[in-house]
Amino acid sequence: MKAVIKIGQGAMILFMTLMSNTASYAATVSEAEVDKSDTKVVNIDETSFSCIRDMTPVRHFYVDNLLGNIEGTLAAANSPEGAIYPTGSVVQLVPTEVMVKREPGTFAATNDWEFFELEVDENGSKIAKRGFVDVVNRFDGNCFACHVPAKEKWDFICESGHGCEPIPIDHKMTGALQRSDPRCGDTALESGDTMALIKLKLMVGAGLTKKWFEDLF
Ligand code: HEC
Repeated sequence: MKAVIKIGQGAMILFMTLMSNTASYAATVSEAEVDKSDTKVVNIDETSFSCIRDMTPVRHFYVDNLLGNIEGTLAAANSPEGAIYPTGSVVQLVPTEVMVKREPGTFAATNDWEFFELEVDENGSKIAKRGFVDVVNRFDGNCFACHVPAKEKWDFICESGHGCEPIPIDHKMTGALQRSDPRCGDTALESGDTMALIKLKLMVGAGLTKKWFEDLF
């Protein structure tokens, strides 16, 4: 019995050596073409999300990369011609809505983007909803349906002029929401933010934003 185990262990070590040689050979030949972060698994739970202002600002929104490839994410976000975001990319415009680029092949129809609706307070984030084509925001709007016109070229990122139906919230308001993200500790309001938040509150009161921002007040 002992001998059998020994042979078994020897065979296993030989097998592992062969495997690791093959793996390092594969890494050498493909290094130039394949981004290694694309082979890693993107694990997401509520600790993946925190203060929006700790992410990296791009124009009026924020990006991050859960696999550490922030350079790749920034390169995609700043590409004037549009680009496919690398695996692990996180994109946020307001504290409660997030897009995360999952592993290649996760969900073809969304180019592997997963949509999240968060509940945020001073203690952190809770994932209220997550999914690919069926997540609906506070506005009663389907994330995928609104973002899909920007699929080609812009990899589902709407901004302005990428083909998505515009939202009734301007960048003064999204900026004010970013600067008052409760997960960041003290608010960092700029002049005009209080006015923007009051205007937003009035729009919510008048039913103009449906239920989108109701939970934020
Ligand atoms: C009514 C249509 C609509 C719905 C519904 C919607 N979005 Fe968007 N979203 C937009 C538009 C338009 C922009 C760009 C706004 C701007 O920058 O002026 C945007 C911006 C964003 C951004 C910043 C990057 C970008 O695409 O410009 C993220 C991230 C985002 N939305 C995530 C979500 C998530 C997650 C949901 C669902 C929980 C969602 N959105 C629902 C239309 C929508």
